[in-house]
Amino acid sequence: MSWINENCVSFFQLFCIKVVKTGRVPQHIAFIMDGNRRYAKKQSVNCSAGHSKGFDKLSETLKWCLDLGVSEVTVYAFSIENFKRSTEEVTALFDLARDKFNRLLDEIDQINEWGVRLHIAGNLSLLPEDLQVLVSKAMVATRKNNKLRLNIAYAYTARDEITRGASDLIKSVKANELNPLDINEDLVSQTLDLGTPELLIRTSGEVRLSDFMLWQISNTVLYFTDVLWPEFSIWNLLAAIIHFQRHPPLLKKTEEFTPSQQEFLKKLESKRWQELQRIIKT
Ligand code: FPP
Ligand code: MG
Repeated sequence: MSWINENCVSFFQLFCIKVVKTGRVPQHIAFIMDGNRRYAKKQSVNCSAGHSKGFDKLSETLKWCLDLGVSEVTVYAFSIENFKRSTEEVTALFDLARDKFNRLLDEIDQINEWGVRLHIAGNLSLLPEDLQVLVSKAMVATRKNNKLRLNIAYAYTARDEITRGASDLIKSVKANELNPLDINEDLVSQTLDLGTPELLIRTSGEVRLSDFMLWQISNTVLYFTDVLWPEFSIWNLLAAIIHFQRHPPLLKKTEEFTPSQQEFLKKLESKRWQELQRIIKT
C-alpha cells in the first residue's frame, strides 16, 4: 500500500465531507493509532500483519484528511516504550518502516504531487542506523511540500522530547547565545519536535495519553473511540470532527519573538538540518 490511498472515498462520503467542511475543520489532527494487535488477534493473523493493516489505515486517513483540507497530521507510530516489546515485534515494526520509507523515496514524484511534507519526530539516535538514514532522506526529499505536513512520532515520548528541548536551551545559554530571560512558554514550545494539534483522536478504547504530546495538548480537544485502529473508518473521523465542532477550543495567541529569540530558533533549525545531512552522509 502506498502512502496515500486515492481510492478510499465514495461520492456519498465526499458529499458528507463537504457538509462537515461547512463547519470549522481542525487544521492539525493527532492520532494515537492503537489496537493493531487486538485486531490481529481478532482476525487470527500475526501481529505484524496487524501493524501492516495499521499502515494501510494511515494511508486512507491521510486521503480523508487531504479531502477535508486538514493541513497537519501527527501520528504516534513507535513509542520509546515500544522498545520493551518482543524482539520479533520490534524487528517487524522496523522492517515495515524500512519498506514504507523506501517506497516513499521510490514514489517521491507522487508524494511531491500530493504536496506531503514528512517530519519524523523523536529521538532518531535510538533507531537502527539504516532507518535513521532512510527517515532523514524522506524528510529532506519532501521539505519543499506544503499541502499536508505529516509528522510521524517514531522513537518518541513527550518526556524525551521535552528533555531534548530543555537540553538545547541549556546548551545555548551556556554558549552565551541565549539569555535565560528569553526563555518563556512560547520559546520552549518552539524547541519541541511537534506543534499543537487542535484535535487528538485515540482509538481502541484506551483513554490514556501514553506520553504523547504532553506539552502541546493542554488546550486540545480529545476524542476517544472504541474502534480498533485498523477498523477506523471515515465515519469515525467525521464523528470526531463533529465532536470538535461542538466543543471548539479557545484559541491562544502566541507572542512575537524578540530578535535574540529568533536568532536562537534559526540556529536551532539549522543545527537540526545539519544533523540530518550528517546522518545521510555517514
Ligand atoms: C499500537 O497498537 C500501534 C503501534 C505500536 C504501531 C503503530 C504503527 C503503525 C500503524 C504503522 C505505521 C508505520 C509507519 C511506517 C508510519 P498496539 O500494538 O498497541 O495494539 P494493541 O493495543 O491491540 O496491543
Ligand atoms: Mg496498544
